[in-house]
Amino acid sequence: MRVAVLVSGSGTNLQALLDAERAGTLAPAEIACVVSNRPGAGALARAQAFGKPALTVDHKLFPAREPFEDALLAVLIEHRAEAVVLAGFMRVLTGRFLDRFPERILNIHPSLLPAFPGVDAQRQAFDHGVKVTGATVHFVDAGLDAGAIVLQAAVPVADGDTVEALRARVLEREHEILPRAVSLLAAGRLVRTGRRVAVLP
Ligand code: GRF
Repeated sequence: MRVAVLVSGSGTNLQALLDAERAGTLAPAEIACVVSNRPGAGALARAQAFGKPALTVDHKLFPAREPFEDALLAVLIEHRAEAVVLAGFMRVLTGRFLDRFPERILNIHPSLLPAFPGVDAQRQAFDHGVKVTGATVHFVDAGLDAGAIVLQAAVPVADGDTVEALRARVLEREHEILPRAVSLLAAGRLVRTGRRVAVLP
C-alpha cells in the first residue's frame, strides 16, 4: 500500500516510519511521498536523506482550504498514494479531502484520546495532573482528534516529571505505535465496527 506522509515539523514520527520501512516492519506499506505544508520543515530533510520524494505545498500561498487541499490532492494522486498518514501535520483537513481516502487516513496524537485533543496535549495532561497519559493513533474524521482509535500506548507521569521529560517519553511511544498501525492498515487487519477498531490476527 502506497502511503503519503503529511508533515509540518521536525519529523521524528516520519523517521520512525522510514526506519520501519528500512527494517521491513512497515510492510506491506511503503512510503510513496512526504509532503509538508511548511517550507523547510525538518521532516523534509529526513525524507530526502532516505531518497523519498519530499514536497512542499505551502498553505500560506492559498486563499482558502479548498484550493490548498486541491493542490495537496494533486501531489498525492501524482504519487499514486492509496492512504495518508498525518505525522505532526498541523492543518485540519475538510470532509472533501477525507472523502478521497475513506478509512485510509491515520493521525498520531500525543495523549490518550479522548482526553486532551488539540495542540500541546502533553502540557494539557501535565497541567491537569494526570497520573497516566500516552499516545494515540486514530482514523481521521471531520472532528478534531476525534476519529476511531486504532492503537494507544500508556505513559505514567512521575512526580518529579517536567513537561519536556514527559513529551520525550510520549514521543518514544508514538514512534512505536505509528509504524505498527500503518502496517496493520496496509495488511487489511483493521476492522472497524462503529467507533471500535479490532485488529485481526
Ligand atoms: C508529535 O508529538 C505528534 O503526536 C504531534 O506533533 C508532534 C510531531 O512531532 N501531532 P514530529 O514532527 O513527528 O517529531
